[in-house]
Formats: sequence, structure tokens, C-alpha cells
Amino acid sequence: MAPDPPPPEDLPVACRDAMMEYTKHVMNLGDLLFELLSEALGLESETLKNMDCLKSLLMICNYYPPCPQPDLTMGISQHSDNSFLTILLQDNIGGLQILHQDSWVDVSPIPGALVINMGDFLQLITNDKFVSANHRVPANREGPRVSIASFFSSSALPNSTVYGPMKELVTEENPPKYKDITIKEYTEGYFEKGLDGTSYLSNIRI
Ligand code: OGA
Ligand code: NI
Repeated sequence: MAPDPPPPEDLPVACRDAMMEYTKHVMNLGDLLFELLSEALGLESETLKNMDCLKSLLMICNYYPPCPQPDLTMGISQHSDNSFLTILLQDNIGGLQILHQDSWVDVSPIPGALVINMGDFLQLITNDKFVSANHRVPANREGPRVSIASFFSSSALPNSTVYGPMKELVTEENPPKYKDITIKEYTEGYFEKGLDGTSYLSNIRI
């Protein structure tokens, strides 16, 4: 959806206008979040935006049909997101879980609330100051369930920028934990490995 939204005719009529309108709000919220997160790191509020974190937005609409035998499968298996940050809008069915201290905890829907997930690229550039959230959605008898995930990530676009731990955040006592990598290379490795529950970040750990 950003920097260049697709031609409107490429989007289904049923959600075309809503996607265009929703994108504006997601971009405004993302702008604020990246400012706050920069400040939380003790840096100038524009820092993350200057690294193009806000530049590209990929919107994925997930549809989970009701499942008659939820023990046999998963809605979406355990993973962390291939993004800087993800803004997730879920409907009222529920099912999203986050791994917290080795237990799966429900992220129950709250009407009007959005879920904000740290993604792998934020963990990479902050040298583990921010940690990407490990999450999943088990299959559910109820449904269908719909969620809209807005990924701040240029993974779908050509981009030669190399990302690594930010110079401002590494010191002699806290050396870089990751190798430099482009989003494109990271994304290729991420999808080649598949959503198997391990983070692709471990592959570029120094
Ligand atoms: C995703 C995701 C969760 C959900 O699309 O990456 O984790 O609630 N979705 O659908
Ligand atoms: Ni996800």
C-alpha cells in the first residue's frame, strides 16, 4: 500500500475504498509509533523514520475458515514477523496467541483495539533492545476469522539498503549481535526456511 499503492482496480471492490482509507490511518499511527520508539531508545524522534522504517507498507488480509478438526492443524504456525513493526486488526473471533515466558498467552480481541507487534528488523537494528514477538493462531472451530496485518516492511520491493545494529546503540561492551543484511536477503532466507518456529535472526547472529 506504500510508497506506491496498487491501482484501485487491482483491489477487490468489497474492500477497495476501506483499504485506501485505512492505509492513511495506519501510516499516521506508524509515524507516531516510530517516533515514540525512537525516543524510547534515547534517540532523536526522527531516527527510525530516517532509516525508512515507515516507508513501505504491505497489507495482508488473512482469512481463517472454521476448522472441524483444530487438533490436526494450525491457522498460522509460530513465527515472528518479517517487518520492522506490524499493526494487526483482528475481528471478534479471537485465536491470536503470543509466546510469553515459554507459555502461549491469548491476545483476546478488544473492540476498537489494534495489536502492535515488534518485527524481526526492529530486533536486528536495535541489537536486541526491542525483541520481535513470537506468535501464532491455532485453528478454530469457530469462524470464519478475519484479520488485517499491516507490515512496515519493504520486503516486497527492490531495496539495496543494508541494515545492521544501529551505530548509536552498539558500544565496546555491547557489540553488534547481527551481521548486516538487506531486507531482500533477509526475506529470501525467512521464506526459504518457512514458519518453523525458529527466528531467521538466528541465522545472521554473530
Ligand atoms: C501474520 C499474523 C495473526 C492473525 O499475518 O503475520 O501473525 O491474528 N497474523 O491473523
Ligand atoms: Ni505474524
